[in-house]
Amino acid sequence: MSDRETWTTRLGFILAAVGSAVGLGNLWQFPFKTGANGGAAFVAFYLIAVLFIGFPAMLAEFVLGRRTNVNAVDAFGELGHRGWRIVGGIGIVTGFWILSYYNVVGGWVLRYILGSATGAYFGDPGGYFGAVSAGPEAVLAQALFLALVVGIVALGIEDGIEKATTLMVPSIVVLMLALAAWVATLPGAGAGYAFFLSPDLGTMIDNAASIIPFAVGQAFFTLSLGMAIMITYSSYVGEDDNLVFDGGVIVVMNTLVGVLAGLVVFPILLTIDYQITATTGGPGALFVATASGFSSVPFGRLFGVAFFGVVLIAALSSAISLLEVSVAWANDNFGVSRPVLATGIGVGLFVLGLPSAWDTVWLTWFDNFAYQLFLPLSALLVVVFVGWVLGEEALEELRQGTGGLGWFGPVWLWALRLVVVAGILATLGLGVETMFL
Ligand code: PFF
Ligand code: NA
Repeated sequence: MSDRETWTTRLGFILAAVGSAVGLGNLWQFPFKTGANGGAAFVAFYLIAVLFIGFPAMLAEFVLGRRTNVNAVDAFGELGHRGWRIVGGIGIVTGFWILSYYNVVGGWVLRYILGSATGAYFGDPGGYFGAVSAGPEAVLAQALFLALVVGIVALGIEDGIEKATTLMVPSIVVLMLALAAWVATLPGAGAGYAFFLSPDLGTMIDNAASIIPFAVGQAFFTLSLGMAIMITYSSYVGEDDNLVFDGGVIVVMNTLVGVLAGLVVFPILLTIDYQITATTGGPGALFVATASGFSSVPFGRLFGVAFFGVVLIAALSSAISLLEVSVAWANDNFGVSRPVLATGIGVGLFVLGLPSAWDTVWLTWFDNFAYQLFLPLSALLVVVFVGWVLGEEALEELRQGTGGLGWFGPVWLWALRLVVVAGILATLGLGVETMFL
């Protein structure tokens, strides 16, 4: 496996991982889940979950990838635990499943860039969503988005993913800052910030039991955990990188973009008096709501193009990380060229995505299944493996390149073994309950 690629620079790895983390989860789900779960109280729990559950779990995936320098299935075999390769397999299937409908939403974003430029949704934002989000038009848009994803991954780690994300991630940050500055001038800005940023302790305590599992699930999704992405990306990392520091940068950057997304979206929603409740949720919520906003503010077309442009860049840099998971596995195992593998897997994704593109009811079903069951299950198994099966060996790998972990080492390992496992079990429990009971 000596001709396996690596990131050309450490920053390249960090930006690729940030690109993966920052996605529809931050720009689309996070604001709308925040809205549906009581605003700032949800934000507070989410931040706690990211720090104490997501971050340690991310380091666990890093340890697996860098220790073995191989895809997420064979990583377990390399470590001498062949039976556990099924866990890598679950991760890959989870990723494939999620990407199938993520591409569909990516297609919607393409349509919304066009619709903003032409003003096509200005008269009837709800009707526009209905027209572009399902049926043949959605299938076509899905195919276009997928073609972009396949094109980048076909070029490889250095020339494809690293080059693309090095351009994309700074663009996301700059555009989001510009958008945040603009919406600060809207009449609903103050109310938007208040809704998003001032947690009500009473709400937090009363609803903790129902909010916490959601916040944990969101933390996993947003950090791209449980879908073998971080295992795969870190398999291209060298021994002298400090994984704890890199992981910290990735978590902070991802959180900042999530918060920025809220600072952009809520002022728009409160300016048009959009009622944010659990029942106005659903996959179309953010599209319809923000599009209504752009229809009724000055320079709406320009801001619509900029907003959906950022969403597109963010979705693309996430989708390529997910396609890379399957491509890396196939590339390590079969003597077939990367472009052929990327295209073949792309065709498979297109087919699996057809129901979601045809009718959003299917998209919601795929999403729920992934979010409530696959994702937590896959994350749980990885964490149990790294924490309980690898244990000290994992600590030793994490230490490489840090110059010593100090107190952080044992705290990380025990957090992984107990806190992270408990957090995921809570999410999984809620998931099983909502799906089957
Ligand atoms: N962290 C990503 C996000 O928040 O959108 C999660 C993700 C989803 C990554 C789908 C990749 C992907 F294809
Ligand atoms: Na994210």
